[in-house]
Amino acid sequence: MKLTEPFPRLDHAPEIREKILPLCRLSRGEVWEDPEKGHRVSVCDAESPEEIAALMGREKAVLGIHDPPYNLKVGKKKTVQLFRIATEDYIDFSRQWIQNSVISTADNSHLYIWLGADQREGFQPLPEFMIMMREFPVLESRSLITVRNQRGYGTQKNWMCIRQELLYYTKGRPDFSVVYTDIPKVLKGYYKIVNGEITENLERSKSGTIRPGNVWLDIQQVFYRMEENVPGAYAQKPLSAIDRIIQSSSRKGDLIIDFFAHSGTTLISAEKHNRVCYTCDLDPVFAEITIRRLLHFRETGKSGWQCENPFPELSREFDLNPSYPARNIPESSSD
Ligand SMILES: C[S@@+](CC[C@H](N)C(=O)[O-])C[C@H]1O[C@@H](n2cnc3c(N)ncnc32)[C@H](O)[C@@H]1O
Repeated sequence: MKLTEPFPRLDHAPEIREKILPLCRLSRGEVWEDPEKGHRVSVCDAESPEEIAALMGREKAVLGIHDPPYNLKVGKKKTVQLFRIATEDYIDFSRQWIQNSVISTADNSHLYIWLGADQREGFQPLPEFMIMMREFPVLESRSLITVRNQRGYGTQKNWMCIRQELLYYTKGRPDFSVVYTDIPKVLKGYYKIVNGEITENLERSKSGTIRPGNVWLDIQQVFYRMEENVPGAYAQKPLSAIDRIIQSSSRKGDLIIDFFAHSGTTLISAEKHNRVCYTCDLDPVFAEITIRRLLHFRETGKSGWQCENPFPELSREFDLNPSYPARNIPESSSD
């Protein structure tokens, strides 16, 4: 098994991006339509009403899953893709793409937003974002989900920061299906009277495993040895988390939107569960990776490349050039 990735984070590697850009099939504003299942991928700015309208056409989604840049620095660098701007400007940006999302969704629909809170900067932008969301009375706040990461930062003089926030809102009254984890129920001997009968906890249950609740401890963060790993991605969400959202909040054939595609996780999960996904990224390199990941999944059944190269056209160049460091050691601490 190959254990080093072909290239580092693509936002930190301008010379590799230069080589990949000519291989990208989409330019700004263009939409790729999947001839097999009708998914769409575009290069567009989530803030732009016109570009989002071009992606959506006349369709409305029943589920939005968005993972914008969090307005924090990741590792020691800030990058064009993971920018840090004044919090007010970040909230203006958020208000605009949320507006585009509201317009793009059905009267009865779900909305999930991944976000962060920078503990070194007054926890921005999470509180400001939550308050801004109250400007959309059509959206009802439903849950603040916390996902536990395995790797984190701030281990020496603080609690290691391993949390990842996921905000859940609904519009209207969409259907919701309870999903279960793989974690077995352990609480035994909890008796309750149901219809005059004394019943024990486990016999009342629909499943022998527990429901996830709004603290998710069982999601494995993506790292380079996992099949779903996408080399060059720097903010890839685990498929298991997106699978959980899609299974609970949509049905077969439903349309799902994601305005910040990056490695294309929402698209892969939609494909796996027979949903349709319209997604976009401002960066043509990540829009291309998103399309290639879908085609690779159909061809091989694999959800990512692990440490293989998504751009085999360039593999010879990468193999021959030792100046491309392999990204095989996580930047941060882990437990
Ligand atoms: C946190 S990542 C999304 C990760 C994704 N959920 C995944 O699992 O791979 C954010 C992405 O948003 C893109 N992006 C940044 N600003 C954008 C904008 N204004 N419109 C659309 N995409 C943008 C970045 O290029 C980056 O790929």
